[in-house]
Amino acid sequence: MGAAEDTGSVGPGADPGAPDMHRLLARPVARRQVLVGGLALLVGGCAFAAGTEPSVPPATPLDILPTHDPTAPPTTAPTSGGSATGPVATPLPLPACRYRDVPVLGDPDRDWATLVLDTVYTLPEDWAPERLVGTRRVGLAGGFQVSRVMIDDLGGLADAARDAGVPIAIQSAYRSYAYQVTTFQGWVARSSEREARKVSARPGHSEHQLGTAVDLRSAGDATPPWELDDFATTPAGRWLAEHAWEHGFVMSYPRGADEETCYSYEPWHYRYVGRDAAAAITESGLTPRRYLWETYWAQR
Ligand code: DAL
Ligand code: ZN
Repeated sequence: MGAAEDTGSVGPGADPGAPDMHRLLARPVARRQVLVGGLALLVGGCAFAAGTEPSVPPATPLDILPTHDPTAPPTTAPTSGGSATGPVATPLPLPACRYRDVPVLGDPDRDWATLVLDTVYTLPEDWAPERLVGTRRVGLAGGFQVSRVMIDDLGGLADAARDAGVPIAIQSAYRSYAYQVTTFQGWVARSSEREARKVSARPGHSEHQLGTAVDLRSAGDATPPWELDDFATTPAGRWLAEHAWEHGFVMSYPRGADEETCYSYEPWHYRYVGRDAAAAITESGLTPRRYLWETYWAQR
């Protein structure tokens, strides 16, 4: 539904660039990402380590993946030396960026804001947002659709950007599973499956299927944002990086965090999580994936 109207984001030449530690450290919000990402690398390693073939299953079992029974109680472990308050939950570490098709933890109809949707976790093929609405109703033309849950704040974001003198437009919004098949294959055709997996989600794994992710560009420049050197250095991209959270949006794939977000830097891809969660994620300095995992899904 809606896929025919969606111009999607198939496009060549995404050049996410190498992580730029100087720029990263210059951004207060990103400082903890460096530390956390560094620690994650030291402690957990990463599916993208040199010499690792992403499409080949690892020899070791998926021992850090949680169970998928939503009714399962949290895992517990005794506190050292005993405690008057009893056992405490042992948080599960953020899963490594392996390529799997594990059903998402949670119900996408209810938990759309907090779901961890990455290279591991997948939505059902037939899942679509309960209600899709055209973005034209908030002045964003192009025939795109998004989930009803975010249309008001999307309109607020667009209005605020216009008021700030940096009007924005949508490059891609809701993408059905079927549309993501086309999108992903488009990237494969332009490079290879291995390269495509760094910039495009496999079908079922895209936040665009949630209907709450948008790829944004400057209204005055129809160039797809991934064809620019760095969209975040354009006036619109810079404004979004600073203010999107105020309207409930977070940048899912910030710079220098590939191993943790599972994808290359995408300064144009914003996910709507609601204003409270966006403020909390921004305040934390964590990547959205780590914040959502640790806040909502690690204690299982
Ligand atoms: N480009 C992002 C990862 C997606 O395909 O959803
Ligand atoms: Zn996107």
